[in-house]
Amino acid sequence: MFADAKKSWPLNAWYQAAWSHEVEDKPFARTLLNEALVLFRDEDGAVHALEDRCCHRATPLRLGEVVSGGLQCGYHGLIFDGAGKCVHIPGQNNIPSQSRVRSFPIVERQEIIWVWMGEAEKADESQLVDYPWLDDQTNWPHKHALYHIDCNFYLLIDNLMDLTHIPFIHRNTIGGGDQKGQVEATMEVTAKETGVHYIRWMEGIVPPPTYVKGAGWAEGIKVDRWQEFEYIAPSTVVQWTGALEEGRGAKENRDQKGGFNLRLYHGVTPETDDTCHYFWTPLNGYKPESQEATDTLFKEIDFTFQEDVEFLEAQHAMMLAKPDAPLVNTKHDSALVTARKAIDRMIRAETQPPLAAE
Ligand code: FES
Ligand SMILES: [Fe+2]
Repeated sequence: MFADAKKSWPLNAWYQAAWSHEVEDKPFARTLLNEALVLFRDEDGAVHALEDRCCHRATPLRLGEVVSGGLQCGYHGLIFDGAGKCVHIPGQNNIPSQSRVRSFPIVERQEIIWVWMGEAEKADESQLVDYPWLDDQTNWPHKHALYHIDCNFYLLIDNLMDLTHIPFIHRNTIGGGDQKGQVEATMEVTAKETGVHYIRWMEGIVPPPTYVKGAGWAEGIKVDRWQEFEYIAPSTVVQWTGALEEGRGAKENRDQKGGFNLRLYHGVTPETDDTCHYFWTPLNGYKPESQEATDTLFKEIDFTFQEDVEFLEAQHAMMLAKPDAPLVNTKHDSALVTARKAIDRMIRAETQPPLAAE
């Protein structure tokens, strides 16, 4: 499984390049899918992405500065506009048409800067993941995070597709309490054209520590807990999880006041074959009026995800050491396998030649 996954990823797709707040008035460099890019925000506030290599003498454009009209190379002063076209050569009136660098389609919305790394003419905004809660700091307050992780990005998607790791890795945060109940959750997996959706229910369980802290439940309270996840290939996972006290009919209506619930956005973008960027933000849906609750939630999730990172990096190192050694699936891997199929379809659509016309 890993050997296949390591081969590549789809290029004709939107990936998160950055959080909006990361790109300000300076050139912003980041490697995505093995390509060194430089992002910049022009004087009108629009974000652009260029190959981080000047076409004059290959100087990284990140060493330059944002000026009127575009991004100026720091070495001899060529200026490139947002489309990558050279618009100024100091001391030279004629600008040859080949004086340009590659540019990448960018869309900024809902606090996310998305980049399209494949064929520019195929960039399709209708394929962007819609996550309106990020625009709603009042009802879903949240803070943004980014980890750089030494593992292949597929391993992080896998991690989010098999939550039976929770009572083991996360026993002190979101996986403590009734550990048996969590492994034995009912799991409903639905394959989708764009990925996979699943929902897990754990009914009448002792809530885990993070949930108790958030909701302020007394000892002895039992809850009905849900974990709803959707993977949108290739690189986004959205989540809504929470719990209500047993007897409140959570299964019929999760959207009730009280209890504990959060939404989580996960954006996973490959940096190289062996490293990835993990953008995440937990949205406080249980005490939106409390800054303290938003801060505590962030801290708890941060601590929880650090536990994942330790395992992911160790797992990746072991896979590099023995790349061809086989792996065995369990019944809990049904969402993971369905997710892999969705991403494989995208890769095949790019790599297979079109059928000849009849
Ligand atoms: S290397 Fe960029 S202007 Fe010369
Ligand atoms: Fe985890």
